[in-house]
Amino acid sequence: MSIVSPSILSADFLNLESEIEKFSDEKNLWFHLDIMDGHYVPNLTFGKTILKGIHKVTTHKLDAHLMVTNPEDYVEQLSDIGIHNFTFHWETVTHHHSLISSIKKSYDSVGISLNPATHCEIIPDDILKMIDVILVMSVNPGFGGQSFIESSIDKVKYFKSKRDELGLSFKIQVDGGVTDKNAKALRSVGADILVAGSYIFNSKSYKDSINNLR
Ligand code: DX5
Ligand code: ZN
Repeated sequence: MSIVSPSILSADFLNLESEIEKFSDEKNLWFHLDIMDGHYVPNLTFGKTILKGIHKVTTHKLDAHLMVTNPEDYVEQLSDIGIHNFTFHWETVTHHHSLISSIKKSYDSVGISLNPATHCEIIPDDILKMIDVILVMSVNPGFGGQSFIESSIDKVKYFKSKRDELGLSFKIQVDGGVTDKNAKALRSVGADILVAGSYIFNSKSYKDSINNLR
């Protein structure tokens, strides 16, 4: 069963605890937490205080997606609040190996994200061997509610075939504009984790939306 990852960015922030509780019976669910700094992307979201609060009210895995200029500065800062997966953007980093190694010391899972304009081939095999999640951005990062970029399907195919070729087991995650219209195609080409913000939170029944994605 694929993992569905509701993006908290689209939740009702004034009622965050009750929003989170609505997912408490779900299996194979990670909460996707978009951390934006207003520099790397033109939007600001939340930091440690909110993340800590979220951890207190759920047992689901927490998936941090860092859309920040300096992800290395967040590794230690966010290490003691129960985050399972720490994903940074490939484009923001110079010394990828050393950042991955330092993330691995404090988190169970490490991910790399690629913007729509970044070619998959830029990620060397030895980096793929080090990571747990590859995050294919299917919109330009910064905001929820954007339209899915169709060429993202080919990126998922690329990473699936790389994973098979190298005998690896990293998960392939897709984030941005994911709905019931593209979920089936994404799953069929190898996506393991579907992040969805507006599709889930703008719906009447979160449960039905999750089932539709699966
Ligand atoms: C965009 C974020 C996404 C966003 C997805 O920069 O990384 O996680 O919340 O929202 P939807 O599903 O509405 O495109
Ligand atoms: Zn995200």
